[in-house]
Amino acid sequence: MSAAQVTESIRQLIAERSGLVVPERDFQVLRGYVSARMVATACQDGLEYLELISNGTNAGAEFTQLVKLVTVGHTRFFRNPGQLAALRDIVLPALIASRTATGDTLAGSTRAVGDVGARPLRILSAGCSTGEEPYSLAMLLLAEEQKRACPPFEIIATDISPDSLAKARADVLVRRAQVRRERFHRRLHETLLRDR
Ligand SMILES: C[S@@+](CC[C@H](N)C(=O)[O-])C[C@H]1O[C@@H](n2cnc3c(N)ncnc32)[C@H](O)[C@@H]1O
Repeated sequence: MSAAQVTESIRQLIAERSGLVVPERDFQVLRGYVSARMVATACQDGLEYLELISNGTNAGAEFTQLVKLVTVGHTRFFRNPGQLAALRDIVLPALIASRTATGDTLAGSTRAVGDVGARPLRILSAGCSTGEEPYSLAMLLLAEEQKRACPPFEIIATDISPDSLAKARADVLVRRAQVRRERFHRRLHETLLRDR
């Protein structure tokens, strides 16, 4: 098997196991990542590395290390302001309007038309990295809750990288405190404005 064929097999394995498609134009980049992992795992050639991630005793863990190099974990709070503004100004009002108009039903119970109801709004942060996106969503929705009739919400956050998820989980308490602090300052600001 040539070096190019080995890289192609690894590219296919990544797609099959993780759903990540490494585009043709990034073939050389993938080769670089594979070389780096071959050095780290003391593999003599690409074929040995392919065998390691396919059937080796540590195949799952090593595959995770490779996927970590392939994915880009860049994130920050309110990273995509346009997307969040669209959620706040277009998607959320439309969802609330449709619930209000139809009197959305809960399992086993009905609500009156005009009530936004208790069925939670579910948002999926797919590829949440270390959690800044779901927390930005939470802060935005908490602010909206103050302004208008808004259903309760749930945010589900997933990522292919176990390391990113571990960091997101570890930071949960810190970020909860950030959300509380943000709410406190917003309320204080609103009170001060009202009392002027
Ligand atoms: C550039 S970061 C963006 C993080 C966040 N959505 C934001 O906008 O701040 C992309 C994230 O998607 C994750 N990712 C890429 N492909 C994925 C897949 N197939 N399934 C789950 N997560 C994936 C990566 O691990 C990475 O953490």
